[in-house]
Amino acid sequence: MATLPILTGDHPVLRQKAKKVGKVDKAILRLLDDMTETVQSAPGLGLAANQVGRLVRVIVIWLDEHHLQLINPEVVRAEGEVTMEEGCLSLPGYWADVRRPEKITVRALSRNGKPMRLNANGMLARVLQHEIDHLDGILFVDRLDSIDQLHYTAPDREDAADSHVREPMGTAVLQS
Ligand code: NI
Repeated sequence: MATLPILTGDHPVLRQKAKKVGKVDKAILRLLDDMTETVQSAPGLGLAANQVGRLVRVIVIWLDEHHLQLINPEVVRAEGEVTMEEGCLSLPGYWADVRRPEKITVRALSRNGKPMRLNANGMLARVLQHEIDHLDGILFVDRLDSIDQLHYTAPDREDAADSHVREPMGTAVLQS
């Protein structure tokens, strides 16, 4: 496994649509494993292939209790609405409250190529939607009503992420 460089800012690959995976071959499995290592060391909660310069529909999730490697993920059902704070490894230091559906159903292939369905809410639903957006070239800032909602905390501060853990019951922090 290897840690991959993460693309940031206005890199064009972040704005392109990733292609569906036709066959889960060794290259895809290796990409999944490298992305998993990358998201762990970033550290982040999720990562999409676009962020490591690959335009294939592959995401990884690294939440406390949810470690997922998903191929061709798509949201097939969404309900409710909730606002949570988000950041992105590709937009270091930028944060904003983002409104998204609260509960979702995702259809995907697992790493062994088997179709799977996943019902998610809370943080998992949030990270899944954020990562699936990346596959379509969409960044969380595109989901804001106004760019004024975006705020910045210097990313080189070691405690930058921690400093955003406020209102533990109402707001959650996402960096993916
Ligand atoms: Ni992101």
